[in-house]
Amino acid sequence: MNIRFTEEQEMMRKMVRDFAQAEIEPFVERMEKGEFPRDILRKMGSLGLMGIPVPEQYGGAGMDFTSYIIAIHELSKVSATVGVILSVHTSVGTNPILYFGTEEQKNKYIPKLASGEYLGAFCLTEPGSGSDAGSLKTKAVKKDGTYILNGSKVFITNGGEADTYIVFASTNAEAGLKGISAFIVEKNTKGLVIGKDEHKMGLYGSRTVQLSFEDAEVPAENLLGEEGEGFKIAMANLDVGRIGIAAQSLGIAQAALEKSVEYAKERVQFGRPISSQQGIGFKLADMATAVEASELLTYRAAFMRENGMACGKEASMAKLFASKTAMETATEAIQVFGGYGYTKDYPVERYFRDAKVCEIYEGTSEIQRIVISKHLTKG
Ligand code: CAA
Repeated sequence: MNIRFTEEQEMMRKMVRDFAQAEIEPFVERMEKGEFPRDILRKMGSLGLMGIPVPEQYGGAGMDFTSYIIAIHELSKVSATVGVILSVHTSVGTNPILYFGTEEQKNKYIPKLASGEYLGAFCLTEPGSGSDAGSLKTKAVKKDGTYILNGSKVFITNGGEADTYIVFASTNAEAGLKGISAFIVEKNTKGLVIGKDEHKMGLYGSRTVQLSFEDAEVPAENLLGEEGEGFKIAMANLDVGRIGIAAQSLGIAQAALEKSVEYAKERVQFGRPISSQQGIGFKLADMATAVEASELLTYRAAFMRENGMACGKEASMAKLFASKTAMETATEAIQVFGGYGYTKDYPVERYFRDAKVCEIYEGTSEIQRIVISKHLTKG
């Protein structure tokens, strides 16, 4: 791709690529058996990867947003599991505090999140409230110096492993969307109950849990932003989060393409490599074109974000297109590998299982289309 990255960004790419090859690749099999990559996250913390776009003042690496997207992209080529853990931790686990927190909240939580001592999670979705995020039912009632939270959340990435949860609850049911508030909830909060682990199609090393609040007492000073600002906080951070999921999708798609090209050059049928046969050659050409288009959309959204431009539409476009590309490229990769692609001897079946959720979490593809069309028609 003819995007010119800075020297620092290229150094980040090389560092993450080397780290992923040396430290993550050998651990993929264990994650495939369901092991959470604790040690890997610890090492990522010591390299500054758990707080890439966080200012140095709060213990982060103080790097630009594009470097962060480069990291998710490179990590996800080797492990989409590690990619999503980092994306959720940073985009929707840490950034809400950075963008909307008080100075006290920032000083208390961000250095721990940025160093990797803490892991972050984001609790918006509920059993009855997925795409219609504003219809959430979890309630927060203010009593003396605390908010008492009651309700259930589902599909919480990093749940059960996280130290802080950004939780959305209604403080005023009559006000609808404008009655939703955001809270920072610590893992040891009495009444925060970690429930069932979901048995997912893919991303086996990442934990996804149900959790509930049973008269959970959250100190009033852990209200994030103002009462009633929660929905906007969720939406604004999802805009950023969606660029991360686009980068994760891009990583999966690129890995599927690279493995397919490699295999097609080696695999001989009818007396010549299958790469030189048009049925496969055309497939590879279509896969590569979609991967590069995803790359352009993803890095355009990152560039806009980094330069303070509104990028909700572009983030949704990047996520929509890159996640579709991940799914299609992984599907075609299995076709290129034929029967071998359907076995666990090659990674392409893992890419296929990992890719699907990119079209679902942080807003389904249908929601991305709603966001894009609203931008096209507003005003
Ligand atoms: N930034 C700031 N404010 C925003 C915003 C944004 N991107 N998008 C909307 N808002 C504001 C609007 O301006 C509006 O406020 P005003 O009335 O003051 O103008 C308010 O929010 C309501 O906006 P809408 O009318 O557009 O709201 P809606 O109810 O129609 O919903 C939606 C919009 C886009 C469909 C939204 O509900 C949505 O994004 N749903 C998907 C939820 C989602 O992505 N969930 C993912 C869960 S998290 C996850 O998956 C993480 C993980 O663990 C991997």
